[in-house]
Amino acid sequence: MAQLNGSKKIKTAVFISGRGSNLKNLIKFSKTKKSPIIIDLIVANKKAEGLKYASQNKIKKTVIKYIKIKIAEKKILTILEKKKIELICLAGFMKVLSKNFINKFNGKIINIHPSYLPKYKGLNTSARALNNNEKFSGCTVHYVSSKLDSGKIILQKKIKISKKETETSLDKKIIKEEHKLYPKAILKIFSL
Ligand code: GRF
Repeated sequence: MAQLNGSKKIKTAVFISGRGSNLKNLIKFSKTKKSPIIIDLIVANKKAEGLKYASQNKIKKTVIKYIKIKIAEKKILTILEKKKIELICLAGFMKVLSKNFINKFNGKIINIHPSYLPKYKGLNTSARALNNNEKFSGCTVHYVSSKLDSGKIILQKKIKISKKETETSLDKKIIKEEHKLYPKAILKIFSL
């Protein structure tokens, strides 16, 4: 994906549902000189803890309740258009986007997932990897397609599982690597 609007920074929305550590990290990255993106909008489907980073950084936020997916997505699309958003970064957003929504933003939605895809799509990735006595887990940044956690991979990192690993310790290792991987993946897609 080449830079979309010449020398200007790419107007980005981050979608969250939870604590927002990736959001916090992306905001920090977006303020660096080398960042190709600027975060203009934070979207949540509920009163997520991570929304605090919106006010702390003077970024517009919107909470869209998902009672009916069609209505919720229509509301989100209207805001995205109004803000002229060019890239969506999913960061722990727990709602599945419809085909229609994805098509409208084709190739412009990326996600971070806490496993070495295509292994362990879906939830509870660390617990499942440990149960299966895996030697490695990881994290992946990928384009979003209409199939869950299956879009084209942009960048991924393997993480060693130690003998004494617990779900908590593995999750900690993974999130630390996620914070490095997401900015790297963004740099990768926008470098010509
Ligand atoms: C991360 O592990 C991410 O890979 C997954 O959800 C988690 C979100 O964490 N999609 P946070 O809200 O960014 O701290």
